[in-house]
Amino acid sequence: MEKEMLDLIKQTAAFISGKIKDMPKTAIILGTGLGELVNHIDITDELAYEDIPNFPVSTVEGHSGKLIFGQLGNKRIMAMKGRFHFYEGYNMQLVTFPVRVMKELGITTLFVSNAAGGMNPDFKIGDLMIITDHINLFPEHPLRGKNFDELGPRFPDMSEAYSPELIADAKKVAAENGIRLVEGVYVGTQGPTFETPAEYRYFHRIGGDAVGMSTVPEVIVARHSGIRCFGMSVITDLGVEGIVEKVSHEEVQKAAAAAEPKMTFIMKELINKFEE
Ligand code: HPA
Repeated sequence: MEKEMLDLIKQTAAFISGKIKDMPKTAIILGTGLGELVNHIDITDELAYEDIPNFPVSTVEGHSGKLIFGQLGNKRIMAMKGRFHFYEGYNMQLVTFPVRVMKELGITTLFVSNAAGGMNPDFKIGDLMIITDHINLFPEHPLRGKNFDELGPRFPDMSEAYSPELIADAKKVAAENGIRLVEGVYVGTQGPTFETPAEYRYFHRIGGDAVGMSTVPEVIVARHSGIRCFGMSVITDLGVEGIVEKVSHEEVQKAAAAAEPKMTFIMKELINKFEE
């Protein structure tokens, strides 16, 4: 089964590189808040997930799935439109399979976005949070099982899961353009329930500033394979002690859509600015 996974990664990567002439070094997972970035990509190729061998197909409303290749500013990029969440029922090997394939294709930097509930009392709905670090509370670890040294080390270092250079660049972009950015620790949980007031309080007390249901598995696998990461959350609801309000998927989507132009702008500028 595990050996099979290596073969699947190679098979999928071979399929993709057979279709794409100029392979990018930079990838973006277009999570919530970044859908609009697609409109800024000068697209050269698109591959629907259902046409890519071994790729899972995403199920959640509002996440259609395809791999997009093209030019964004001065960089050639690969963008994943639609990601795989653990709560959809995929195991962690499947959730992180696209990141394994990215590595095999030569990707060296990964940008990710997500929607998250804010627990830091200084946060407001619509804020953008640079992810400086994370706490992994998923019940299954993507690296559990036999380690393949060709993919990465058995015990990977996670002291700089999110690139300090990219964080500094993002802050510069925001400051130069008068955009409010907050920063903090992202707590990754399995969902699909939003948090109870006690859970928000707990996640804040253990050091979290925002909580969401994605990103952590992909970043763990990216770091395992030596890919540099940058992540940003759009704060779509608040789980701040004393002011936990009801939240729904629709409200999350609405708040994320409102913050999308800001998030898109920063990511676009950051991707243009950083050195591959
Ligand atoms: N909790 C978990 N995931 C989320 C939230 C939240 O409050 N908001 C958006 N995604």
